[in-house]
Amino acid sequence: MASTEDIIAATTSTIARLSAYIFLRWIPGHHFPPLILTTVVIYLACVFGRSEAFGPSRRSLHDLFPKLFHHPDNHEKKGQAEKEVHHDLEDPVLYKEEKSFLKVFLLGIPDWMEPDWSYLTIGINILLALFTLDQVFRGPLLHPVQDVSFTRVGYVDSTSAKVLLREPDSSQLPMYVYLSPANMTSWTTTDTIYYLGEDTDYTHVITFENLLPSKKYTYSLSNDKSGEFTTAASPYSEASNSLTFLTSSCVKANFPYRPSAHALAIHGFDHLSKVVRALPSPASFMLFLGDFIYVDVPLRLSSSLRHYRAEYRRVYASPSWSLPGLDTLPWIHTLDDHEIANDWSGGNDTDPFPAASDPFIHYHVSVNPPIPAGAPTGPEANTTFFKFSNGPASFFMLDTRRYRTDPEPKPSSSSTSKPLYGSSSQSSNPPHPHAKHTMLGAVQFASLLKYLATPEPAHVHWKIIASSVPFTKNWRFGTSDTWGGFLQERSQILAAMHAAERDLGIRVIILSGDRHEFAAIRYPAPISDHGVDQRKNLDRVKNRPSSKQLKQHKSYDPTPQAGPHEFSVGPLSMFYLPFRTFKQIDDEDVAINYLPDGNSKVGAVHIQNLAGDAQRSLLKYSLYIDGNLAWEYTLTSPAIGADMAKADRMRRRTSGWLWD
Ligand SMILES: *[C@@H]1O[C@H](CO)[C@@H](O)[C@H](O)[C@H]1NC(C)=O
Ligand SMILES: *[C@@H]1O[C@H](CO)[C@@H](O)[C@H](O)[C@H]1NC(C)=O
Ligand SMILES: *[C@@H]1O[C@H](CO)[C@@H](O)[C@H](O)[C@H]1NC(C)=O
Repeated sequence: MASTEDIIAATTSTIARLSAYIFLRWIPGHHFPPLILTTVVIYLACVFGRSEAFGPSRRSLHDLFPKLFHHPDNHEKKGQAEKEVHHDLEDPVLYKEEKSFLKVFLLGIPDWMEPDWSYLTIGINILLALFTLDQVFRGPLLHPVQDVSFTRVGYVDSTSAKVLLREPDSSQLPMYVYLSPANMTSWTTTDTIYYLGEDTDYTHVITFENLLPSKKYTYSLSNDKSGEFTTAASPYSEASNSLTFLTSSCVKANFPYRPSAHALAIHGFDHLSKVVRALPSPASFMLFLGDFIYVDVPLRLSSSLRHYRAEYRRVYASPSWSLPGLDTLPWIHTLDDHEIANDWSGGNDTDPFPAASDPFIHYHVSVNPPIPAGAPTGPEANTTFFKFSNGPASFFMLDTRRYRTDPEPKPSSSSTSKPLYGSSSQSSNPPHPHAKHTMLGAVQFASLLKYLATPEPAHVHWKIIASSVPFTKNWRFGTSDTWGGFLQERSQILAAMHAAERDLGIRVIILSGDRHEFAAIRYPAPISDHGVDQRKNLDRVKNRPSSKQLKQHKSYDPTPQAGPHEFSVGPLSMFYLPFRTFKQIDDEDVAINYLPDGNSKVGAVHIQNLAGDAQRSLLKYSLYIDGNLAWEYTLTSPAIGADMAKADRMRRRTSGWLWD
């Protein structure tokens, strides 16, 4: 018969081991560290609390906690001992040893007849507790990285480039900035920096201007930092007919956990480095869709401005940035929830948003692309959505957090998605003062609609919208944190996207991240019922159908590849879920592919306008999982001409009532 102590030891040991495995290798959820530490402490109290561990003078658990544990029945013990003696006589020795081995190693129950095994199994549990503490605290405690000094390239266009500098050492001031063509033949001093202060966490934006397009430059600073960048193609040049860039989201240092790794190493960068170097044409930039820091994973240690700033510094202090190919890749950024708190929808003046926003502004926004014309400008406005063009594509980068309100209430009672990771204290955000449910806020929403309605120059065939959270409602787990929680706003944007494809002959691509999975989704345009004539439609316009009727009658353009497409990819270096969370639920969001597994995923987008046919362009999306090409998909931009005329007729027929 197993004693109470054995049962407790086996239970706590098993819970600790399973939890540690999940926490260190699968999902760094905030539930696990307290669970692992508590179970290991109880386990140790239990195994060292019993008499056999240190000889007969030790007090038993019963003596320590008489109310919790029953006194072991003496009779029973005696009987058991006798039985075991019998066993010994009847069974081969090996059998008993094997049983004991399993008991000691699998269940963690020490057997003091076998002290070596017992100490080993206890040691394993202690080690798992230490690994857990190491994973949570080594980075923050041993790497405050207050003195980290670095430069990184941000937004680069055809005539200018922005470089972010951090240098906290005031003895380096004044600092001189030099620039040369990449062959380093003619250096010019472009800037002198006299002041770097605590107000920006010692960051500074260096802007290089009046550059030549499609040209590689090298910069060098008097603090010995240097780097290089290549300017974008001139808008109407031959070179502007193609563009390659990368996109992904979500990085967390040293996950999955490796005890021997640097606490700040980002394992996914090993794969990224390989991908960057294998691309047929060099990537112009990394479009990073948020969760650059995980302030609340595995545990939120503080919500102070100091802590948020330190989290950015820790990512930039990672040794992984020096991997080949990564030191010269420019990054541009959108904001997502783990830059603030899990599933953040608490507005932009509720704590901890202001503390979270500060380093995002200084480390990322400062060297991001320009903000759209008409949006509030100036450092005080802190506008965090961006618009730019590069070669055959134009881009609109959304901020899906700063301006958002709580999601729409769920129609049914399916509010089951408790956060598996991140801070549970944030699962109910403070109520937002604005009643309307919006992901973008009025100003950004209007700016996006205007962008979608604006024609592009002849060589631009793609409007690419970056959204940190997925546009699709096919993700069943955590839907309300995605655009699935803002369906009214989403349907207006979707209508504007369909209109852009129809009226401007442009294909809309949505790039998103956040879910730690890959999916490709198509949004075919709604069409009127087959066999319904124009007059009937006109009648409908007069007597607008209810939304319920509309749903029943809705059918979608069956043309393969027609409509906006979304590619959602992540994580660049983080966990993925062991269960499936994505499912097509109607014909509005058509699933093309779903590849959830992999700790490191990155999408490479290559756009090529076809020579000799100025109207057509190809976009190839290549998904890399753990450094290997996993899937490729090629799209064409919509044809214009005859098709446009047809589309135009279609538009006039349907636009009266379908999209309100
Ligand atoms: C370096 O680049 C400049 C500008 O592109 C060019 O004029 C010069 O000839 C180059 N020098 C060498 C040695 O390649
Ligand atoms: C804009 O950001 C800066 C830097 O974080 C901050 O000091 C300022 O208060 C912000 N302005 C507004 C209006 O939020
Ligand atoms: C905060 O969000 C509201 C609502 O979307 C918006 O009107 C306001 O401009 C935002 N303020 C800042 C400083 O971003």
